[in-house]
Amino acid sequence: MRVLVIHGPNLNLLGDREPEIYGTLSLADVNELIASSAADLGLQVRCEQYNGEGQIVDAIHDARSSADAIVINPGAYSHYSYAIADAIKSVAIPTIEVHLSNIHARDEFRRTSVTAAGCRGTIGGFGALSYVLALHSVAKMLEE
Ligand code: DQA
Repeated sequence: MRVLVIHGPNLNLLGDREPEIYGTLSLADVNELIASSAADLGLQVRCEQYNGEGQIVDAIHDARSSADAIVINPGAYSHYSYAIADAIKSVAIPTIEVHLSNIHARDEFRRTSVTAAGCRGTIGGFGALSYVLALHSVAKMLEE
């Protein structure tokens, strides 16, 4: 089972970026954790990071031929990108949305996720563990 993990804008700065909110792990550290959790679960994983909305749309389209599931942290696009929301709905690939922080406990504008509407579910608030929990959900979902 092939899982594509898409990290959205500004997540390349993890570790340096508002560590009190997003933690001190770098994106490379998070990807290492994702890779080892995926291996434990018998999943093949590929991690990509894009700052551009169109790049994320393209990555979702490309996943049609290369992934059985998507785990996506759309970053701030979660709150307003109908293009990414439509892309998730356009491909018939089960998708789980992930957030490092608890978006419901922060600024008002973060409390809505338009991209979550096309996803099977959302996991957030657990830092890098949110991705690990998402992989567990993927493994369970794909065996059903
Ligand atoms: C985030 C939450 C978003 O509101 C924010 O814009 C991000 C990261 C998270 O993982 O907690 O870039 O998606």
